[in-house]
Amino acid sequence: MSFIVAIDGPAGSGKGTVTKQVAQEMGLTNIDTGATYRCVALAVIENNVLLEEKSKIIELAKNIKIDMDTEQNVFLNGRNVTQQIRSKEVSAIVSQISSIKDVRLLMVDLQRKLAEGKDVIMEGRDITTYVFPNADVKIYLDASIEERAKRRYKEMQERQIEATYEEILENIKMRDENDKNKEIGSLKIAPDAIVIDTTELSIEKVTEKVKEIIKSAR
Ligand code: DC
Repeated sequence: MSFIVAIDGPAGSGKGTVTKQVAQEMGLTNIDTGATYRCVALAVIENNVLLEEKSKIIELAKNIKIDMDTEQNVFLNGRNVTQQIRSKEVSAIVSQISSIKDVRLLMVDLQRKLAEGKDVIMEGRDITTYVFPNADVKIYLDASIEERAKRRYKEMQERQIEATYEEILENIKMRDENDKNKEIGSLKIAPDAIVIDTTELSIEKVTEKVKEIIKSAR
């Protein structure tokens, strides 16, 4: 039996950072589901496949091997791509890649397998609603779009990836739109999820809140 904490929310809502922190402090395995879509996007770029070539993208998604280790490293066909999957190029197409139904079905299957028999904290867009609708804990993190763009801008600067605030804001707007309008696994708030608005909250504060919610459910 595994214990599952599911966290959803839009880009820049703090899910990634909070999930990593909570995982470490509470001894849960962290599964970053966005990373699985990012790996497919990276493979698409590296294999010179066009976004219109849907069947080629699905074929690629079927044939690549995605792994994650306990240190949050991500591997594509055995190669460590943890940094590469955060590049501007990958971010620009990942939402469209994740909108392809067959890619989603393959990735959801993989995400469920990655969680098998473990106590996990899993973040994404459709974890509380589709991947694990019966999760033990369901949380939805939100924040204003400006605040989310500001956070992503800071993150990019820290990683020394060149991008302007305006570029990031546009990218987030586009991803919000795409994430909300997917045929399956669209971003929405599960009726029984606990919603936390993080706009005015520090990462530490959000982490504390999430830990409290998990403790009372465990
Ligand atoms: O969380 P992220 O920015 O790394 O996610 C990358 C993309 O994948 C983003 O456009 C949303 C999508 N995604 C998804 O559709 N379903 C998930 N469970 C996780 C991410």
